[in-house]
Amino acid sequence: MPSFIETQFPIARLSAESYKERKAVSGQTLTGLGKWWGRKPLILVRASVLGMLMPASVDSKKDREVFLQILTMDDDGAWQRCKPDEARKIGRALLQSSPMAELAERVRAAERARQDAGSMLARINLHFGTKAGSLAGLHLELGEQAFRAMPYADRIALCERPENFTGPDMQAWKAINEHLGTHAESLTQLVEQLGKRTFGHRPRVGDSFCGGGSIPFEAARIGCDAFGSDLNPVAGLLTWASLNLLGGGPEVQREVTRAQTEALKAADEQVKVWGIEHNARGERAEAYIYCVEVKPEGCDYYIPLAPSWLVDEYSRVVARWQRVPGSDRLLPDIAIVDAAEVKRYKEKKGATVVDSRVVDPFSPTRSWSLEALRGPDGLRRWTSDDLVPRAGDVFQERLYCIRWVDTDGNRRYAAPDESDLSREQYVLALLRERLVEWQGVGFIPSRAIPEGGDKTEEPIRTRGWTYWHHLFTPRQLLVHGLLMSKLTGIGTQSLTAAAMLSVGRFADWNSRLSCWLSSSTQIAGGKNTFLNQALNTLFNYSTRPLPALLSSRVSFNRGVAHRLLGSVAVVDARDVQDVCDIWITDPPYADAINYHELGDFFLAWYDRQLARAFPEWTPDARAELAVRGDGDDFRHSMVEIYKNLTRRMPNNGLQMVMFTHQDPAVWADLGMILWAAGLKATAAWTISTETESAGIKKGNYVQGTVCLVLRKRIGDEPGFLDEVYPLVEDEVKRQIASMQALDEAGEPNFNDADYQLAAYAAALKVLTQYGNLDGRDVEHEVFAVRGKNDKSDFQAVIERALVIACDTLIPRGLEASWRDLKLAERYYLRALDIESRGERRQGMYEELARGFGVTDIKPLLKSDKANGARMHTASGFGAAGLAPLAETGDSNVSAALPARRGRAAGGVPHPFASAPLRHVLFAVRETVAADDNPEPGRQYLRDTFGQGYWAQRERFVSLLEWLAQLGNAVGMEEWSTDSHAARILAGRLRNDHA
Ligand SMILES: C[S@@+](CC[C@H](N)C(=O)[O-])C[C@H]1O[C@@H](n2cnc3c(N)ncnc32)[C@H](O)[C@@H]1O
Repeated sequence: MPSFIETQFPIARLSAESYKERKAVSGQTLTGLGKWWGRKPLILVRASVLGMLMPASVDSKKDREVFLQILTMDDDGAWQRCKPDEARKIGRALLQSSPMAELAERVRAAERARQDAGSMLARINLHFGTKAGSLAGLHLELGEQAFRAMPYADRIALCERPENFTGPDMQAWKAINEHLGTHAESLTQLVEQLGKRTFGHRPRVGDSFCGGGSIPFEAARIGCDAFGSDLNPVAGLLTWASLNLLGGGPEVQREVTRAQTEALKAADEQVKVWGIEHNARGERAEAYIYCVEVKPEGCDYYIPLAPSWLVDEYSRVVARWQRVPGSDRLLPDIAIVDAAEVKRYKEKKGATVVDSRVVDPFSPTRSWSLEALRGPDGLRRWTSDDLVPRAGDVFQERLYCIRWVDTDGNRRYAAPDESDLSREQYVLALLRERLVEWQGVGFIPSRAIPEGGDKTEEPIRTRGWTYWHHLFTPRQLLVHGLLMSKLTGIGTQSLTAAAMLSVGRFADWNSRLSCWLSSSTQIAGGKNTFLNQALNTLFNYSTRPLPALLSSRVSFNRGVAHRLLGSVAVVDARDVQDVCDIWITDPPYADAINYHELGDFFLAWYDRQLARAFPEWTPDARAELAVRGDGDDFRHSMVEIYKNLTRRMPNNGLQMVMFTHQDPAVWADLGMILWAAGLKATAAWTISTETESAGIKKGNYVQGTVCLVLRKRIGDEPGFLDEVYPLVEDEVKRQIASMQALDEAGEPNFNDADYQLAAYAAALKVLTQYGNLDGRDVEHEVFAVRGKNDKSDFQAVIERALVIACDTLIPRGLEASWRDLKLAERYYLRALDIESRGERRQGMYEELARGFGVTDIKPLLKSDKANGARMHTASGFGAAGLAPLAETGDSNVSAALPARRGRAAGGVPHPFASAPLRHVLFAVRETVAADDNPEPGRQYLRDTFGQGYWAQRERFVSLLEWLAQLGNAVGMEEWSTDSHAARILAGRLRNDHA
């Protein structure tokens, strides 16, 4: 019997919920534990597990209703999740905007005076069909009415996220149990009962690429027995913490919070004793800002470097530099300036780094290339005992600004004075005293940065930093080391894990890679190292004193009330031994994230504590085993891994492979890998995890996550290519039709990439049922060595799916003329269609061209920027010279043509040049040129097509009408003149008589 997810999945609602969760950023359930890249939304995991456990029945409508009830994503469930204040707010607004507003005001007055409010309310109730007993109740009831009438994506903005909600109410449970034959009153009971039915026990759900732990955590939270493993011990720690700290029950969380509070208090006392964060005025530092400085050849002073010297836009503070007679060091002047000056600083006034060149602040025409300053042999490499630059190093470092706060909370920015600078020296001395000891016990990092990495090479090359502790100022190392010494003293595994996570978060928020960010709406502050997925060095950066760090200690955004069941291993996915009923994985394929390199930043801090608390884990990222790239090595590892996972599940087990797609070709590759691993695809759904539902139509597309559902292929039924093609065609059409139906339902929709991907998935569904095709073995085909343009038959089938999809997706309004259009015309129109829906990624235009078999799209594109692709407008073509051709021998075209210019580069006529559509565009251009007089355009078409004009006139009109509406789309303003002309020309043609 198929599972629910193999028949349907509520893509629209799930996309909206997943996006909402992602947008919560630091409010996401697991982010309080620490940084990992690419965490999957918990609601998506929850829906996936439940969708795999719930059987599909013959009543698909009821299945859907019940499934949404389980997730509290049905209409009643969403209303229960609505925050009452929000509901009342919209109810109040509704009432105020209605004719009953005045009466409501009288109810309020009457309520105050306790007179006759009832009868007035009765009139309002009658008007709205409500039953409220008070004004507040009325607001709520009206709020509910308004809420239920909203689109789902708007409703949930007012709601608690479903993954944090208690679950369905008793009435919903009754309906759920009735349909599923269960007797559950909670999600955990339901999960256990469904699991027992299929697998004979509570379901075991595993993830062998568990990263930040979303999959095992959420599976455990809804009652599964979870297993998570990852090659990287930093990921292992995060997953362990999700199950055992967040999921360890309230007592564990209380204990961790208590121990951390005590340790941080003790550290704070030590800082006060040292006197390193206070000044003589009794103020405490709230932020330190440092910059790099450099003395280029021919310059007799050090130039402090920053791309902007705006310190705090909100407080109007800037840094200016002054010469000091007799000194080669400039003096900072931290000043409050007027708004006009702030604007000038925002526009980079005085910037000393511009376009990778150092600029002399006193003579801005003088500049030096940074690359040249580093010298032909590069920078001196720091040795382990270097904590600050040595005299003579190219790049020096200086503290140039401190933000102080007094005991009443008053803030001020100031340049450091003598005593501040001597405190800096004292910090360095304190650190030097402890360095060896602290490194020995692992309170601060001692590891070298691995050489040759994509990301780790940057600090080495651009600053000469060769050890992880070089990425931190002495002040950062001293405070972190102190905190670590207090946090780790206590000993239990939970407390040591929490200590590591806290220090990991401090390191993220407090390193030489933490930029200082000014803002117009709030006071400026330091940001975290991993604002992006890299290790970018900076010219100016911030350092946090101890109190500013406390908020980033490990926190439990949403503790779980019950203890979770689950285990964690740090192991290569090839070596996983555990058996799971369901595997849900999100492998690192062809993605740009170098988990092992970035993870090392944290591992450098965990190092020894990790070895103590988790002796069975290898405290090393084992970069050589990490799956990455997309070449043959990648394919081999992936086939091996998925063969292993397939072996480690029962015959009725299920897998889901999640894939955040960018390039559909990689996706096709992944499909082949899974096929070769002995799996067959049974369904594929795309959830827009990173995109704004409303934004889709406005052009704010981001990526979707493809969820490919798979089962073990049992038996190796042979397939034959000639039988496969019609099956693929049917499946692609079915898949697209079901997505279009959802699109029409008005909830978050799919973009072009989603459709293309769905087509690939549909092809895979057909193909992977077979053990071989025309007698050829799949694994052999995956690894067969081929020339660049040489495709396997398998790839050809998958690509054929794209062609079918392209042919099935007809821009609305062009249905009648579509079949008569040439491929190049279809391509141009579809490309305009996706452009009008905001698609700007050049790759999508190329992918589309593949689908239509158009090999050269350059002459059709006005811009081929990676994220700014656009097609030519009708008038734009004229300028590009791709004008109509007579030479193509197109039988529709008469001999006497004006403007016969265009041949594509190389002298070969572009197929579009001779297409009727091209002539229609030309006629539009003529209309524009004649100030919207349609006559020249009409005449052009009549001359061009001769008698053929009358036969094609209807088609021309429909094309023109389609072009006429283009200019109305958001972002298509370039078309407005042409669209207007197209409308006039269409009108003229419609009324044309022979
Ligand atoms: C896309 S991430 C997973 C993110 C995760 N699903 C989450 O929600 O946080 C991929 C993970 O695969 C891990 N990885 C890479 N190579 C591996 C291997 N050979 N065995 C196990 N894990 C590996 C990486 O460390 C990374 O954590």
